[in-house]
Amino acid sequence: MFLNTLKDWILQNYRNRKFALELTQEKIGEEVNLFGWAFRFRDQGGVIFVDLRDRTGIIQVVARKENLNDDFIVAEQIRSEYVLAIQGKLQNRDKESVNPKLPTGHLEVVIEKLSILNHSKTPPFALDEFDESGEDVRLKYRYLEFRKAEMIEKMILRHKFVFSIRNYLNNNGFMEIETPILNKSTPEGARDFLVPSRLNPGSFYALPQSPQIFKQILMVGGIEKYFQIVKCFRDEDLRADRQPEFTQLDMEFAFVDREDVIREIEKLFSHVFLEVFQIQIKTPFPRLTYQEAMESYGSDKPDLRFGMKLYDVSDIVKDCDFQVFTNAMHNKGVVKAVCVKGGSVISRKEIEDLTAWLNRDYRAKGLAYMKHGKNGLESTITKRFSPAQLEEISKRIGSKEGDMVFFGADSRQIVNSSLGALRVKLSEKFENIDLSEYNFSWVIDFPLFERDEHTKRLVALHHPFTSPVDEAIREEDSIEEIQKNGENIRSKAYDLVLNGNEIGGGSIRIHNNTMQNIVFQLLGIEAEEVQEKFGFLIEALQYGAPPHGGIAFGIDRIMMLLTQSQSIRDVIPFPKTQKGLCLMSECPTPVEEAQLNELKIRVLNI
Ligand code: AMO
Ligand code: AMP
Repeated sequence: MFLNTLKDWILQNYRNRKFALELTQEKIGEEVNLFGWAFRFRDQGGVIFVDLRDRTGIIQVVARKENLNDDFIVAEQIRSEYVLAIQGKLQNRDKESVNPKLPTGHLEVVIEKLSILNHSKTPPFALDEFDESGEDVRLKYRYLEFRKAEMIEKMILRHKFVFSIRNYLNNNGFMEIETPILNKSTPEGARDFLVPSRLNPGSFYALPQSPQIFKQILMVGGIEKYFQIVKCFRDEDLRADRQPEFTQLDMEFAFVDREDVIREIEKLFSHVFLEVFQIQIKTPFPRLTYQEAMESYGSDKPDLRFGMKLYDVSDIVKDCDFQVFTNAMHNKGVVKAVCVKGGSVISRKEIEDLTAWLNRDYRAKGLAYMKHGKNGLESTITKRFSPAQLEEISKRIGSKEGDMVFFGADSRQIVNSSLGALRVKLSEKFENIDLSEYNFSWVIDFPLFERDEHTKRLVALHHPFTSPVDEAIREEDSIEEIQKNGENIRSKAYDLVLNGNEIGGGSIRIHNNTMQNIVFQLLGIEAEEVQEKFGFLIEALQYGAPPHGGIAFGIDRIMMLLTQSQSIRDVIPFPKTQKGLCLMSECPTPVEEAQLNELKIRVLNI
């Protein structure tokens, strides 16, 4: 027998196959042709029930000896994940065998013809909702995971999401234009992935960290409204919400200011969220300045689904007897407090663990705390404060009996970041967060630069093409003068935050080459380096560049949040592990010596 021979009836049936979920009450009595996989089967001797699964769902098919005669032998061979072709009659199930959990649970197909199109090894994990196998094995056999209902649902939603975005943007005058993958480095702050050029030995392309420069150049080209759903590549340490290659919705507009971009994006999100996720979102989204976000929530991506704000209590405790606090203030630091509602149940051991974590990850030297008891704030350190001071702290942070108050005393940066992280961690247990809430907010007025702690040089907080606010830099100011005060210059950058995650970021750009050169100088990038790295952009800005701005969103991150997935890997068809590996194809791998020779590359012994 030839391995690939298919019976004529099967070939015919391809043409008018039905999917499981197309089978409805109205089709009872019809002859139907089905293809799919044997998900579950029960052999009851003379009758075999199979849950046949295809992309849409499951339908029960029944093989009866009395109908199939000699072909019943074929049904007896069916095992998990065998690939089946079936022809049969759709009928109602007996009342007692109706399965209310399945959309087709009241139906079954009585098999008249049956063929096994392929066998399957026993899958290394169960393909149902009860599977608890580890991620490694699931990633190795990703194709089997695709057969799970949960996975296919995520992929369908992801498809609908991008499709809806494309549709909306097309209807609103945006044009999707592709930009190169073999690229020159784009400065988004991560390491580049490099690709050696065989035709130019010793030279490398960089995979794009984003299409940033190209989309700006498209604005110079007069495209005006651009978008692209595009892969970006960043060689950085991976986390639950980061992948080395990820997908952006990238956009750029000409003749806009911040308000236009914000309005367009709110319209886009309202439309798409309603169409795809049936979620009505309230616009306009609330806005916070970067400073408000950092001071009140200790984060530039604050989760506004709950309060637990950080309060500066430096003024209250400046004359207390607690040296930890007064020392921090003498060193130009701050003392801030956060009140955890109902937090007095947190044990000493838990506080020790939190203290160690904040020390390790946020360099916080300690975590002072007070419980709010019957008589106000109490702890081993309260004797170092006057009753009036304690009362004032309690009043400012709004603590009540049963609450716990934590304090940070250090540089503003350490206090904000450590108490901000503590706030998020404790919210899981002490705040009743509504998981169906989608809380969007804009963070605006970012600083243009931050100062590198070690080199003391200015570095771009976003990328170096971000425009400063109009009044910040005058042509006649000297570079040294501007540099001194660099960290106080605000930019026209904005981020979109959803439930405490940065899902998008962008800015109004510099469209004037003199200003762009000033910013490069402020960043300490030498003219030669500017020419070498961004010469083509500087050149383009001199040919009638319109004012422009844009934004990019992390599609994977948004999908992760909307499907309430634990990791970004759950919504990416073929993701990489934390170590950047694809467990299925087993890349990256060493390559042949000959290939390296062609590229004139020698690998050092590692
Ligand atoms: P930015 O670097 O903020 O901006 O990236 C935009 C959005 O992309 C997502 N994102 C990621 N998602 C998964 N894995 C990663 N490693 C990763 N890195 C970023 C985030 C982020 O908000 N060119 C600018 C945009 C602009 O200025 O228009 C840019 O790329 O959700
Ligand atoms: P110590 O005097 O170092 O034993 O600390 C007394 C309390 O203050 C402990 O609960 C410490 O965790 C806390 N503490 C120490 N340093 C800091 C700091 N910089 N900020 C907040 N709390 C601190």
